Amino acid sequence: MIRQKAEMTVNHCVGGPYYRMDVACPDIAADAEPGQFVMIRTDGGEGAFLARPFSIHRCHKEHGITLLYKVVGKGTREMAALQAGGFLYVVGPLGKGFETGSGLGRTAMVGGGVGVAPLVFLAERLAEAGVGMENNTVYLGGATETDILCRDRFAETGMAVRVATEDGSDGEKGLVTDVLINDLAGNASAPDMVFACGPLGMIAALDRIARQYGIPCQISFETMMACGIGACLGCAVPVNKGSMPYLHACKDGPVFDSRMIDWKSLQK
Ligand code: FES
Repeated sequence: MIRQKAEMTVNHCVGGPYYRMDVACPDIAADAEPGQFVMIRTDGGEGAFLARPFSIHRCHKEHGITLLYKVVGKGTREMAALQAGGFLYVVGPLGKGFETGSGLGRTAMVGGGVGVAPLVFLAERLAEAGVGMENNTVYLGGATETDILCRDRFAETGMAVRVATEDGSDGEKGLVTDVLINDLAGNASAPDMVFACGPLGMIAALDRIARQYGIPCQISFETMMACGIGACLGCAVPVNKGSMPYLHACKDGPVFDSRMIDWKSLQK
């Protein structure tokens, strides 16, 4: 884990409330694995916000990392207003990322809105490792076309890209999980693994689908974190694990095997 003050070299809107930011922190980039995150804090002064977690979206080992974020409140509004050339405090890489191991032949990645952020890093890392990306499919979902992000990045890796929006403005009309179900029902070659990140309803549905088809599923939790290092206990995730009712998204995750999660308690 590295703490450093780093220059932000790019910060621009990529459509609607979504922004992309490049941060010059090559030492953090050199250690980062897909699914890990960084804590970001602005450089003090009026309106500076507390540190917040962001998935590492892309990793350029000699330059630093890219973040993809959605403006949802005061802190991210302040972040979006920052000018390139300014400085940020960065801590990372943090947490446990996706487990890829060996023997992954065919995967499905499912991203809801800005939940695609860590999946791009994962897809690019798999492609660099020589995985045949033509056997992999990414499912992108959102309420409307503005929420469909990074389609070209996934396509550049060689993956098939499937899109669904709830209003039908891009791709199939409906939920992205329904598109996945249709593909699984009509396809003899099920994926070896599902990787997912997105809203709670989506990842809970993916757990049910993955169980139904007997496919392991790794999900990345998008949750509020205060410290990012296991000190505040503010990111508890209920799990089905003997005497230990909770794990913590920041140090035990943010990526978990979906079968570990106590979804009923989580959704209460
Ligand atoms: Fe503090 Fe996880 S964010 S324990």
